[in-house]
Amino acid sequence: MAVDRSSPSARAERLKVWDSAKRPFVTPSLLNCNFAKVGAELDALKAAGAVGVHLDVMDGHFVPNLSYGAPVAADWRKVTDFPFDTHLMMSDPGRYLDDFVKAGCDIIIVHIEVLPDPVPLLRKIREAGCRASLCLNPPTPYSAIEPYLDEVDAVLVMSVMPGFGGQKFDPTVLPKVRAIRAARPHLPISIDGGINKTTAAEVVAAGATQLVVGSGVFRPDGNYAAALAELAEEIRRGSL
Ligand code: DX5
Ligand code: ZN
Repeated sequence: MAVDRSSPSARAERLKVWDSAKRPFVTPSLLNCNFAKVGAELDALKAAGAVGVHLDVMDGHFVPNLSYGAPVAADWRKVTDFPFDTHLMMSDPGRYLDDFVKAGCDIIIVHIEVLPDPVPLLRKIREAGCRASLCLNPPTPYSAIEPYLDEVDAVLVMSVMPGFGGQKFDPTVLPKVRAIRAARPHLPISIDGGINKTTAAEVVAAGATQLVVGSGVFRPDGNYAAALAELAEEIRRGSL
């Protein structure tokens, strides 16, 4: 019988793995993978020891780029048990939430910049059995998300303006990571954009527990295990 990975029980199993994984960890962003062979890329990331993968959904409106949507995620879900950390870079994420839930996405990340009141959507995400995460762009202050920290399972701090992989890390966002960590000592904090072996240690030292890495994992030699091992070493250094 075919495995139904989109069922609520399958999601609960994936989230059990996700919640219990040793942090800080790296989630590779598939934006930088070879889209002609995603199944093989997912297998290679599994063999390399990744805990989950980060899906970058771009609508060409909130960000000046297009990537892929829920039907693509649904096909990937058929071939992997990886938790899907799903970053909705969209002007109207609520409109598509059900599609991403049905597609088997697990952690749903929405931007505060498009949500005057994020609470109803964050609650809807949690009611669907997913983890809810709130994301803020580099110019957006910590005060914009502070009132909602009890409504989320994680926060995602952008360290580049979203829309493209391979950009340069902006260290001026680190005080926001520290502020979130000070306010909520145990809340998972992700950071996304320009994270690689030269920037990983400092973001971990600031309090990040999940590092989204695109170009730093999908390096040309295809040795994802080596990339993840180098990042793990920097994470260890930053945790000291
Ligand atoms: C940026 C995306 C990121 C990006 C990361 O718009 O949200 O997830 O793909 O790529 P790197 O690690 O290359 O900055
Ligand atoms: Zn992202």
